[in-house]
Amino acid sequence: MGDPRPIGFFDSGVGGLTVLREVIRRLPAEDTLYLGDNERTPYGPRPDDEVVRFSIECLDALAERDVKAIVVACNTSTAVALPLLRRRYALPILGVVRPGATAAVLATRTRAVGVIATPATVRSHAYFEAINEEDPFVEVFEHATPELVPLVEAGKLQGPAVDAAIRRSLAPLLGDAVQADPSFVFPKPLDARIDTLLLGCTHYPLLSEAIRGIVGPGTAVIDSATATASALASLLEVHDLGTPDTAPGQHLLLTTGDVAAFEATSTRLFDAGLGEIEPIVLGRAAGGVTGGSA
Ligand code: DGL
Repeated sequence: MGDPRPIGFFDSGVGGLTVLREVIRRLPAEDTLYLGDNERTPYGPRPDDEVVRFSIECLDALAERDVKAIVVACNTSTAVALPLLRRRYALPILGVVRPGATAAVLATRTRAVGVIATPATVRSHAYFEAINEEDPFVEVFEHATPELVPLVEAGKLQGPAVDAAIRRSLAPLLGDAVQADPSFVFPKPLDARIDTLLLGCTHYPLLSEAIRGIVGPGTAVIDSATATASALASLLEVHDLGTPDTAPGQHLLLTTGDVAAFEATSTRLFDAGLGEIEPIVLGRAAGGVTGGSA
């Protein structure tokens, strides 16, 4: 039995490719269809209703292309819109917050986890809730790091300017309150003694080398990609949706933004390139009018 149709993936931009990469490692025979809404990235600084609207437009486009399941490979969309998206489509839909939270709870020894994410994800406290449900004794220090997504979208993944931005962004979690931006709201005091840093945005694993260099070997740097790939494998099995094919899967990438820029980042992740990249026009992206605050 099984189902040969592709699995759909969605992110505001290139970040979800970090999840796609792990899924292809784990499920190499599956066909995939990835949609990056690069034209309107970043989602993180936008109000919730806009994130919901954009997410629906993207998932409508994937559903129209007859995918068998969807991975919302965007923490911001998962945090803000997942329950609503699950109600809207008669498809299994997997988010990235729960798998990431589980991975972080398994990693921490001191029971203190730092989570860096977009402002919308932090505002939702989705990670605090998910970690708390896994283990209520784990302290969670959520921190918004809005400087990082634009760097990744611009293909800036290393170098002194990137290191400086990461240092500034992590300063509150690393106990250096001097550089903390007082406009951020923290659920806990700043001088956390975290031993695990959860990258709560799918763009951030593209910076993980630089982040690891800054936090040092004493802090485990975790992301949701591997755990999401495992959760997806289970989901396909439970629903009998795994592909019956055995040849390597076919992959199609869609972007609302610039195809060449998207290709530049995707080839960093997938050495030989992954597959065709096609432009896609969504309702509002067509006119470039979003009313967003980004
Ligand atoms: N990669 C997304 C996330 O995981 C969104 C980043 C953004 O668009 O702000 O949150």
